[in-house]
Amino acid sequence: MIDFIDPIYILTILFFVLALQRMSDPKTARSGIVYAGAAMLVAVLVTFFVPGIGNLPWIVVGTAVGGFLGFYAAKRVKMTDMPQMVAIFNGMGGGAAASIAAVELVAYTESTGFLSLAVAGGLIGSVSFSGSVIAFLKLQGWMTQRSVTFPGQQPTNIAVLVVAGISGGLLLVFAGGFWLWPFFLLALGYGILMTLPIGGADMPVVISMYNALTGVAVALDGFALVDTSAGAAAYAMIIAGTLVGAAGSFLTIVMARAMNRSLANVLFAAYGAKVEEGGTVSGALKPIDIDDAAVMMAYASKVIITPGYGMAVAQAQQKVKELMDALESKGVTVKFGIHPVAGRMPGHMNVLLAEAGVPYDRLFDQEEINPEFPSADVVVVIGANDVVNPAARRAGSPLQGMPILDVDRSKNVLVLKRGQGKGFAGIENELFYKDNARLLYGDAQETVAKLVQAIKKL
Ligand code: TAP
Repeated sequence: MIDFIDPIYILTILFFVLALQRMSDPKTARSGIVYAGAAMLVAVLVTFFVPGIGNLPWIVVGTAVGGFLGFYAAKRVKMTDMPQMVAIFNGMGGGAAASIAAVELVAYTESTGFLSLAVAGGLIGSVSFSGSVIAFLKLQGWMTQRSVTFPGQQPTNIAVLVVAGISGGLLLVFAGGFWLWPFFLLALGYGILMTLPIGGADMPVVISMYNALTGVAVALDGFALVDTSAGAAAYAMIIAGTLVGAAGSFLTIVMARAMNRSLANVLFAAYGAKVEEGGTVSGALKPIDIDDAAVMMAYASKVIITPGYGMAVAQAQQKVKELMDALESKGVTVKFGIHPVAGRMPGHMNVLLAEAGVPYDRLFDQEEINPEFPSADVVVVIGANDVVNPAARRAGSPLQGMPILDVDRSKNVLVLKRGQGKGFAGIENELFYKDNARLLYGDAQETVAKLVQAIKKL
């Protein structure tokens, strides 16, 4: 082995660790992504110098095609389509991990101990691959977003997983051959079956879980390769995979908690679940016009803005920043209340507002901002629905227990939305009917632009 290769792999490992550490803060997150991307590029390039590497033309063609497709897709993707892009990219990681395991198992040159790790990596990577593809299809709207269930689903799923595990065992006993096929097909089938019953609203949690599983599969592949000519590349896989597995697991738990649900509930609640009651609402919807809304905000002393998925759909973040500037120039204190699952992916609102130049010190998470609502003169709800629905405090609601932003406890609430559309949970929002709530109808970007103009004229 050429001397410089292993130290470079070690260096890339250090950069992966550093990248993850930088991603933990919004101010340094962007540079974290650059560090991780650069480290991965170096790790791929240095692999070409590993002595005895074969099939170079194939590797070059594969890298070029994958690199071009990834670059093109990432450049073109709309902010609202980001979750499905994350799902499919993550699925590719799982597929790659499963493929590495398959190569090891076909070659069958290692001891049973190491190959059993390849079996585990192959199983988890395949589940992550096919499950992520279903998540992508659901989020892209290329198949139903609803939970797909059938009688006997849970026993079927358990049986498929058990038989996949047995095939993996037989694969080790009989040195590969025929058993590779049932093993990988059943593992892929399990990923599909496991994801079908999960509804669209829970998809971000599932994507994060598959992300963690992909990391685990890569780490297992790394362990399976330590005794081969892979050298330090195997250690890079172990460390990078472990980092992804650990970070993904934490994120999955944090998201499930933000919805006040256990991971088991997210994954298995659809089995035999009854359609829940949507609850009832009383009162009337009270619209307001732009000028009245502008007066209400411009003469307030404290305004809290709570954005949601609709702000992402409308791409209204730039106008929202202008609204903040216009209000601050009138001496109004402006804060943002960010719910952990507002939007369709973790940090969705933070990313959009940061892109528009809203300073981080104006963003407050749910626990920080909730005590402030009673002292707010106006709360502006921009395209948020489920995360501000007081029904979450009521037993029997589908949102029961979800921690919400207590916007209804403020003096006045302005809700910006296009019409009578419901949130992701598909239920009525009791907030909109409250005495202190007014509705400002229209696309959020246009409405906020008009508000800015009206406030500037005051
Ligand atoms: P939603 O509940 O989906 O509500 C979005 C609101 O935006 C709707 O009321 C919609 O009403 C309005 N809207 C849509 N397009 C608009 C536009 N162009 N202009 C103005 N308004 C527009 O959003 P949310 O409050 O952010 O809640 C997020 C949901 O996703 C929750 O149920 C959450 O559990 C789920 N979820 C999120 C995550 C993560 S990580 N973010 C993870 C799991 C689940 P109109 O159609 O009438 O305009």
